[in-house]
Amino acid sequence: MRKQIAAANWKMNNTLEEGTKLLNEIVGADIQLSDNQFAIFAVPFPYLIIADQQVGDKSNMFIAAQNCHNKMAGAYTGEVSVDMLASIHIHYCVVGHSERREYFLETNQQLAEKVDRCLEKGITPIFCCGEPLAIREAGTQNDYVSVQLNESLFHLDAEAIQKVVIAYEPIWAIGTGKTATATQAQEMHAHIRSVLSNQFGEGVAANISILYGGSVKGANAKEIFSQPDVDGGLVGGASLISSEFVQIINALK
Ligand code: 13P
Repeated sequence: MRKQIAAANWKMNNTLEEGTKLLNEIVGADIQLSDNQFAIFAVPFPYLIIADQQVGDKSNMFIAAQNCHNKMAGAYTGEVSVDMLASIHIHYCVVGHSERREYFLETNQQLAEKVDRCLEKGITPIFCCGEPLAIREAGTQNDYVSVQLNESLFHLDAEAIQKVVIAYEPIWAIGTGKTATATQAQEMHAHIRSVLSNQFGEGVAANISILYGGSVKGANAKEIFSQPDVDGGLVGGASLISSEFVQIINALK
C-alpha cells in the first residue's frame, strides 16, 4: 500500500522561535496517523537538527530538507550535501521545487543528479514537477510534466523509483490561492501514474506516492486527497498555521 503524506514546506519563513512554536503545536495536536500515513516538515536548513529533536520518535512524523546539492562534497560555498543531511539523520529532501527551478535555474539534468545523491544516502527525494500557466493555457501540461519525469527520473530502475515521492505542483496554483480543482489534480496524477506505469510497470507505478501541491488548505484538503491518484499534499502557506496543517494531516484518507 503506498504512503499517504502531508508534507509541509515552510520555504524561507519562520524564525527559530516561530518555527519551534509551530512545530510544537502540531506535534502536540490530536493527530491519528495510521501505519501508511506520514507527516513531513521541510524546514529551513538551520532548524533541521532542532526540528528533528522536536519530532523525536513520534511515529510517522519526519523532518525534510528543502534542497540539497547535486555533488556529494567539494568547493561549493554555501551549499548543503546529502552526506551532511544523512549525517544528521534527515530522511527526506525536497528536490526540484518550482521556485528552485525558476529562481536558481535548476535543470532536469541537475535534478536527476540530486535524486541520485539522495538515493545513494538513503534519503527519500520528494521530487517536484508541474507546469507554468502558459503551458496549462496551451493545453500541453501532460507533455511538459512527462519531459520533467523522463529527464530526471527515468534513468532509475524499478527498485529505485519506488523510493521516490513525486509532488505535482502546478506553478499557477502555488501561493496564488488558485487551487487546481480536484478533477484537474486527479487528471494530472493519473497521467503521471500512467507515464510511470509505461516506464516501470503497473505494479511499480501503483506503489509510488504522488502528492498534490498548490494552495492546499484545511478547507479543501479532504476533497483533493479523496481523489484516487492523489496520495496527500505538499503544502506551503497553510503549513505555517498549526490549526490549518493539523486539519490537512487529518484529511489524509
Ligand atoms: P502554497 O501551498 O503556498 O500554494 O505552496 C505550495 C508549494 O509550493 C509547496 O511546496
